[in-house]
Amino acid sequence: MKGVILAGGLGTRLSPLTKVANKHLLPVYDKPMIYYPITTLVNAGVKDILLVTGGNNAGDFLRLLGNGAEFGLKHLNYTYQRGEGGIADALKLAEHFCGGDKLVVVLGDNIIERNIVRAVAAFAEQGQGAKILLKEVPDPQRFGVATLDGNRVTKIVEKPKQPETNLAVIGIYMYDGQVFEIARNLKPSARGELEITDVNNAYIERGQLTFDVIDGWWTDAGTFESLFRASERVRAGGANHLA
Ligand code: DAU
Repeated sequence: MKGVILAGGLGTRLSPLTKVANKHLLPVYDKPMIYYPITTLVNAGVKDILLVTGGNNAGDFLRLLGNGAEFGLKHLNYTYQRGEGGIADALKLAEHFCGGDKLVVVLGDNIIERNIVRAVAAFAEQGQGAKILLKEVPDPQRFGVATLDGNRVTKIVEKPKQPETNLAVIGIYMYDGQVFEIARNLKPSARGELEITDVNNAYIERGQLTFDVIDGWWTDAGTFESLFRASERVRAGGANHLA
């Protein structure tokens, strides 16, 4: 299983913090934001990792992380996304690295309290397709929102004004090799991005999307409010520390 961390984009929602610093290197309590998604993958046993960087000051990642020794890694792979064409656009850059293997994708601004060990093990056993992770939230209109029918996801809507459920699709996704063919055929959304929600809906159409609901808290850190809350939660104890 390969790991891909998406830390491209310009982080404009956090301007002026992101004018001279890369969003993913901003502090979340006592560590740079990017430490948390790396820890999520390493704790799940995923150690062959590609970091997709982008935007301003991308060279700082290399200075900070090097080959990942702090995380017990022998090597870290890097690539660079130009502009901010969307999450699925950034993911396209991982095709060569994945070489047909299954992959776990983690957004660079997503932080979880516990771990994804159980979900990754279940996905390793899953024949083909994709797996997403859901979490009940009070503000679903900020996220991709899933509608369920029993144990099946029937659709995902990106940032709906009137969400049908309060089940947010968190920024940790598991895919098989089909994901790159799906991403190649996407059309930009109204906000001009290639949307990860469209990738997940394509797997729903193929009848190949499974899901799990994660235990513990989850937050993104891409707005002033969520960045602040992320620091508070980490400070209160129990973000996923390196096992
Ligand atoms: O946090 C979970 C949510 O992330 C999901 O519920 C949504 O379905 C999904 O679209 C995404 O929503 P956001 O609009 O909040 O994503 P954002 O544009 O903030 O990007 C999140 C991370 O993805 C960002 O920290 C780095 C990476 N990214 C994003 C863009 C737009 C890239 O690597 N390249 C990009 O071009």
